[in-house]
Amino acid sequence: MFFSAVLAALCCFSSCVEKPSSDELKVISYNIRVINSKDGANEWKYRAEASPAMIKDYAPDIFGLQEAMPGHLEYLTETLPDYSYVGVGREDGKMEGENMAIFYNKKTIEDIAVAGKKVLVRCDFNVPLKDGVITSDKRIVEALPTIKYLRDQGAMVILCSHMGKPHNVFDAKLKLDKKEIAKIEKLPAEEQEAATAAALEKAKGDVKKFSLQVVADKLNELLGGGVVFANDTVGEDAKAKVAAMKPGDIVLLQNTRFTAGESKNDPEFSKALASFAEIFVNDAFGTAHRAHASTAGVVQHAGLPAVCGYLIQKEISVMGKALSDPARPFVAILGGAKIEDKLNVINNLIEKVDTLIIGGGMAFTFLKAKGYEIGNSLLDESKIDYCKDMMAKAEA
Ligand code: 3PG
Repeated sequence: MFFSAVLAALCCFSSCVEKPSSDELKVISYNIRVINSKDGANEWKYRAEASPAMIKDYAPDIFGLQEAMPGHLEYLTETLPDYSYVGVGREDGKMEGENMAIFYNKKTIEDIAVAGKKVLVRCDFNVPLKDGVITSDKRIVEALPTIKYLRDQGAMVILCSHMGKPHNVFDAKLKLDKKEIAKIEKLPAEEQEAATAAALEKAKGDVKKFSLQVVADKLNELLGGGVVFANDTVGEDAKAKVAAMKPGDIVLLQNTRFTAGESKNDPEFSKALASFAEIFVNDAFGTAHRAHASTAGVVQHAGLPAVCGYLIQKEISVMGKALSDPARPFVAILGGAKIEDKLNVINNLIEKVDTLIIGGGMAFTFLKAKGYEIGNSLLDESKIDYCKDMMAKAEA
């Protein structure tokens, strides 16, 4: 029954390639979700796993994926070699219209047994704060479906996240960052020692300023309690609290960036985090571009089996469809401070959208590139030429 369903699916899609033999079909099977683009409803039509090698051989031609999302396939099969695949197509093989099929490259939390297991969940709880109060809990609310599902399935849910860019406060020797050091070095020699001591003292305040305790409090409010907060990330408190967990319990670990190894994707820190759990769930969509110890390292260095959570799954579906089959006029709005992070995004979006609106901190570099005075506003001088090129490309 199952393989005949897959065969039927392959026949529908296989306008461009020879149909695989029945032996090959035992290996090829697709994890297909059919999205009805009219009302957004979706349902699993065929569920199965695919071998990446077979996907690589057949999927681009069968689904026309290379044309729709250039580069995507290589990226996905290289970065997530153990899982199946994301693609966008239509049951009749065309790339637009109703019944878009999304082929996930990742196993999701629904594809593995989690009951009674310790599950490390990477969220993006990098929420905005003002005077220690969360000003938008959107990122926490968006993480709830995954957390609730795992909890209700009887998993032991170990949450982790970064917040802000704190100093490495768990290091025995607290260090200042490059900008702070450069600022101190500009001072007269006799003032530098005192300035260094004052900066180091201030840096200690990061423990409070960037603590995830506020997130634990918010989670308890939203989930009706049950979330235990660990004062460290992989230290004694975290170890004790994780060891005491029972099915359905939730522990939130302290800010991963309090440890130097996080941003360096340090294997030791990855292994320490991974040692808490049997399964890794990545649901940190906002941090998916960072190859850090708690995002990439736990799989790369510690080999934890990985699946994606509902938020990543949702974002991939929405973004995939928006980029491959957008309603027009298609307007994209980009914000944020750092142009560096968005070089390829801007370049690619210009080719797809009717209008691209740039806001946030990075808008000033574009304004400067247009010849406007921007006063003390944020400027990335090294990207002025890039901004000029992009505006020329948009006008062309
Ligand atoms: C974000 O808010 O952009 C993400 O949480 C990533 O944060 P980062 O830019 O500090 O890595």
